[in-house]
Amino acid sequence: MSLFDKIQHTAQHIRHKIEHQPSVGIILGSGLNGLLDIVQKEVEIDYHEIPNFPVSTVQGHAGKLVFGKLGGKNVVLMAGRFHYYEGYDMETVTFPVRVMKALGVETLIVSNAAGAMNTSYQVGDLVIIKDHINLFPEHPLRGRNDERLGVRFQDMSEPYNRLLIETAQKIAKEKGLKIHTGVYVGLQGPTFETHAEYRWLQVIGGDVVGMSTVPEVIVARHSGLNVFAASVVTDIGIREDLNTISHEEVLEAANAAAPKLAGLVAELIHQMP
Ligand code: HPA
Repeated sequence: MSLFDKIQHTAQHIRHKIEHQPSVGIILGSGLNGLLDIVQKEVEIDYHEIPNFPVSTVQGHAGKLVFGKLGGKNVVLMAGRFHYYEGYDMETVTFPVRVMKALGVETLIVSNAAGAMNTSYQVGDLVIIKDHINLFPEHPLRGRNDERLGVRFQDMSEPYNRLLIETAQKIAKEKGLKIHTGVYVGLQGPTFETHAEYRWLQVIGGDVVGMSTVPEVIVARHSGLNVFAASVVTDIGIREDLNTISHEEVLEAANAAAPKLAGLVAELIHQMP
């Protein structure tokens, strides 16, 4: 079956189960399930019930699509995303984004936990992603291009929608939320970076680093979706003291900041045209 047919098949299966077509898709990062508490849930579908969906393997990732209302809009949330380091190929990692597009989603919101190279950032801070550097070893658009899904040579001059960035900055200011706007570097993991690597990522222009988001954003742009993305700083990679980082520490910091991010995203959706 072609990728196009797989997407149609999966979307058709989901369409039979939902009441409203979602216009906003949301991918929740590790430990960032805060939005699940405030969305008015209508339908939940476990990944293992969805044809062509793999099942997430990381702790802290629930593994379901949640359909409901948020900020007055119909949304679909991905609770649990697929990471490249889990062993999935890029087509699988980004497949849910293609399905969201097929379901009628126009805007994709992506969150993640990230390490900071920018020394003015602190653990728990929110970072609006304004641009990214793709250091994944495999590109999600590599291979024969299906014009029904997008163009061969995708423009990436505005991966993150400027209007959404400005709106989020304004909301953060009004809410008195400390917020940064920075560049996300995406790489495969699953190791956290060495000192030398964090320094290198800083030199090439990165503010934060993580193991997700970039593949999904590339495919979202290829699909014609507008994108907003934000990181929660869960560790300061660049610090010079004995710098050990654990998944538990990342989850803990993400959980603590999740309500802040959820409030921002809910208001952003509310203010979307
Ligand atoms: N590096 C890579 N990925 C991450 C980090 C980090 O420091 N923190 C959370 N995800």
